[in-house]
Amino acid sequence: MTTNDNKGGNVKGIILAGGLGTRLYPLTNVASKQLQPIYNKPMIYYPLTTLILSGVREIMLISSPHDIPRFQDLLGDGSRWGVSLHYATQAEPKGIAEALVIGQEFIGDDSVFLMLGDNLIYGRLEFLRNGIAGNGEGATIFGYRVADPHAFGVVEFDADYKVLSIEEKPAKPRSNWAVPGLYVYGPGAAARAAALEPSARGELEITDLNRSYLADGALKAIPMGRGIAWLDTGTPENLLDAANFVHSIETRTGFLVGSPEEAAFRRGFIGLDAFEALVDSMPKSSAYRQSLDGVVAEARQDW
Ligand code: G1P
Repeated sequence: MTTNDNKGGNVKGIILAGGLGTRLYPLTNVASKQLQPIYNKPMIYYPLTTLILSGVREIMLISSPHDIPRFQDLLGDGSRWGVSLHYATQAEPKGIAEALVIGQEFIGDDSVFLMLGDNLIYGRLEFLRNGIAGNGEGATIFGYRVADPHAFGVVEFDADYKVLSIEEKPAKPRSNWAVPGLYVYGPGAAARAAALEPSARGELEITDLNRSYLADGALKAIPMGRGIAWLDTGTPENLLDAANFVHSIETRTGFLVGSPEEAAFRRGFIGLDAFEALVDSMPKSSAYRQSLDGVVAEARQDW
């Protein structure tokens, strides 16, 4: 089954699990931010699930040299989910755009979908699949309306949703449209990122990269609808809010939010037998497994 239908060729995925996570101290003395629990699973499961649901099968995870072994222990080579996971290190937190430079060889001549490891997206992902499939040579970002955009990249649209400006954490935001940590780039993005001047804080800024596409008339921004939930998880309050959100949805529906196993099965990356074997290998006492048992049982009935 071909799930990667970007016309320009294959689409690679990169998850950046970087940063020092200082706002989560002392939690981040135990494990990096993206390994912290959001309710009942490690944070990294959520972006990984989003990539799988987007149809991306070749994924590179980038983190610090200290944390990469933990991610390797947790996620392995990805084959159990029908994906191929590669690992690379970012020696110091030198900016989100540096992830593309680090991943240059991995990306090759393909397009890339870059997702931040602390972003959680919930809802129907058509907007994302369409954004990836329709990107072409340029760049596609997304906009999510928030009450307080100060802490984010902020995109300003005209009445036809053409991008007028993007600014990083502006003191006086020109709109309420935050830019989530989901970015799609056509071939050549790594070279473009490598050519950026580091910012005052010494980082290759993703907003500068997106601005360079904007200056060339090659940036699309897709507003995300009200039916999508976007949460980021940089502070203890954010972690608690995200945990409560996931708990509410899971308790109500009986389905897991952010399960790479279920996503891989639903997306056709693994068949029902492989999915069932995977679920059978999990401890019986875990509610995570019990929820997936329900998915297996339902699928067996349908077959
Ligand atoms: C980064 C980006 C920002 C984006 C945000 C999304 O900020 O620089 O443009 O809106 O991620 O989570 P950070 O939260 O890493 O400071």
